Amino acid sequence: MTNTNIAERTARTQWFREARFGMFIHWGLYSIPARGEWVRSTERIPQEDYLEYFREFSAKEYNPREWAALAKKAGMKYAVLTAKHHDGFCLWDTKLTDFKATNTPAGRDLVREYLEAFRAEGIRTGLYFSIIDWRHPDFPHYGDRQHPMRDNPKEGNENRDFNRYLEFMHGQIRELLTEYGKIEIMWFDFSYADMKGSKWKAQELIDMVRSLQPHVITDNRLEGSGEESGTILTANPSDFAGDFACPEQMIPPKGILNELGDPVPWEACITLNNHWGYCAWDSHWKSPEMVVRMLTECVSKNGNLLLNVGPDAKGRIPRESAEILEQVGRWMDENGESIYCCGAADMEKPEWGRFTRKGNKLYAHVLEAQAGGICLPNMAGKIEKIRLLSDRSEIKQANYWNLAEYPEHAFFFLNPMSSDSYPLRDPIDTVVEITLK
Ligand code: GLC
Repeated sequence: MTNTNIAERTARTQWFREARFGMFIHWGLYSIPARGEWVRSTERIPQEDYLEYFREFSAKEYNPREWAALAKKAGMKYAVLTAKHHDGFCLWDTKLTDFKATNTPAGRDLVREYLEAFRAEGIRTGLYFSIIDWRHPDFPHYGDRQHPMRDNPKEGNENRDFNRYLEFMHGQIRELLTEYGKIEIMWFDFSYADMKGSKWKAQELIDMVRSLQPHVITDNRLEGSGEESGTILTANPSDFAGDFACPEQMIPPKGILNELGDPVPWEACITLNNHWGYCAWDSHWKSPEMVVRMLTECVSKNGNLLLNVGPDAKGRIPRESAEILEQVGRWMDENGESIYCCGAADMEKPEWGRFTRKGNKLYAHVLEAQAGGICLPNMAGKIEKIRLLSDRSEIKQANYWNLAEYPEHAFFFLNPMSSDSYPLRDPIDTVVEITLK
């Protein structure tokens, strides 16, 4: 990737770096066994047995307008739906395979309806697309790293034509980018071992993607995975290195820089419980507080949070997920200004929480109550005014006898009458807006 290409990437990803918060949606046949989207692989389920779910998939209560309303309420600005996961089942009416939602009892183009519903709410729409396909006869079976038939020598690869597979795979992407209007993100998943880059004919693929929809942004998994980022972190990324890095189920310690020390756009994808696809028994839900703090952490390191929901077989987002997202939304209503269009403050992480910043507005996210004043390290003389973000009430800089020995720092109290900073005004994350001189 040349410098101009990096400049193009910066322009292309601007909305994405401002949006900061998105909804990931993992939905497919695997919501029926309800043991996660890898169930075919982990349990080595033969295709014929998996068809049972295909014959049953009804999506009976699928109402993407409800999903979109929930995403909007939560303050999410974009969404990414699994058009196809590794099992090869397609949620759209593809002409290239019969293994699609329109041939199940659902009988609907679920992707088209999703796109319409989310666009109507003003939410940018992306599609997750698995470049791995466990259903396609020309995709390697025996000996592959994770194919459901990987241990079955009867499923050898002698008569499999990988080029035919690539034609099919590229063809499906062409369909999605020609028949469904403007797509904002193509979220490819994933590369492994020698199955990466040129193996996928990634140059041809990205050229096609760009010629069809030049603005589309892509993740980095035509080369990488959650395990390895590919050339996006090098001084010379390939053309298909992706527009953003996508760490999975973790938030990188200092955000993401390339080997030259330049910031790379990134997005942490994280589940709400411990599964991507619907999992009936997994009640390991993250609290709204945890979600807000993950989001704040991402933004404080120049990154996004793509938070996952896994709708059930009927097409309902689990009630627990909806409740968490609604509470996150309440916090976002009052504090979204400290998230959208914000990034790293270029200051060390403070003892009591985190900073985010947008121009001359510095946001102190106070996560831990403090005994006395809240310290803004080395900020003496640099502050014009301080306000509680949620209600814009005034917060005065503290000038108290016990702070006299710390003239280089600025301090404020959350409770000026008692000269302390507990309890927090908002136990989830009390945001204080500091206008800098
Ligand atoms: C993975 C998994 C997967 C999930 C994805 C989300 O690499 O294969 O099931 O869709 O990560 O990031």
